[in-house]
Amino acid sequence: MLAETSAKLTDNLQQATQILAQSSQICILTGAGISAESGIPTFRDKQTGLWEQYRAEDLASAEAFERDPELVWSWYQWRRQLVHDKAPNSAHLALARWQQAGSHKITLVTQNVDDLHEQAKHHERTSRHEPSNDSKPLGNLNNIDSTVHHLHGHLWRNRCSQCHKPYTEQSAQPKSDIDFDTKLIHCSECDGLIRPDIVWFGESLPVDSWQIAEQAAANCEVFISIGTSSLVYPAAGLAQLAKQNGAKIIEINPNPTANSFVDITLAAKAGEVMPLLVDRIL
Ligand code: OAD
Repeated sequence: MLAETSAKLTDNLQQATQILAQSSQICILTGAGISAESGIPTFRDKQTGLWEQYRAEDLASAEAFERDPELVWSWYQWRRQLVHDKAPNSAHLALARWQQAGSHKITLVTQNVDDLHEQAKHHERTSRHEPSNDSKPLGNLNNIDSTVHHLHGHLWRNRCSQCHKPYTEQSAQPKSDIDFDTKLIHCSECDGLIRPDIVWFGESLPVDSWQIAEQAAANCEVFISIGTSSLVYPAAGLAQLAKQNGAKIIEINPNPTANSFVDITLAAKAGEVMPLLVDRIL
């Protein structure tokens, strides 16, 4: 496969491998691009991006939900239907293999609300016949691994928009049994409307995940940004924070960002680059 990659990419892969061989603390930030090869649309792609087809402010804000809860709820139900049968691709799997190998201290931070990193880790563990720390079966709505730090929430979780109580009625169900009904649901506690547990525009990031992400970025030796346009803050600021603290920055993206502080750009799809990189590291 290496023979098929361009000379520039091969050269940059070599440099990235060398830097990683001399480092132990790694912070990885993933965005929608890592799930693109699993068939999940990104947000800002010119043809297929979700935000090219819909206005973010109509669908991903508390104001939008207040204005038109049916519209927002049905859009998230549609996204759940779109994502429910998607599987991790070779980028998620390579990353899980790297984490499992224990060669580096890796903090994995994601802006994605899907659970493909969790699925990949589960796949990696079961393929090695190792016991899982996670007692919940794969495909379950609560299939969340505490070592994947989600900055923008979880597509498969819901909570009350008023009292914030988690709505867990469907949590024990496998995704294949979920009813993607667009009918609104009310909280059993306060009768408020149930909403997806996603961080919408204008809302704060979950404190725990953000603290872990900030610390990992500030203390890492190498920061790897995979499949993100780096346009949405505060997540986009993590790479800068890492750089200010002396880390090397590696970016994996077929359409590299304009960020001038990136040290090594691997300009190819994550599903192609990650297995090559991980094969070389391990
Ligand atoms: P974007 O849609 O902004 O960016 C996706 C990036 O992935 C782009 O830079 C693409 O070039 C790149 N890409 C596409 N295919 C790829 C592949 N196969 N391998 C690697 N990279 C690929 O998505 P995010 O940066 O994740 O927030 O967007 C950040 C946030 O904006 C999202 O979390 C979401 C959105 O509004 C919320 O919903 C709160």
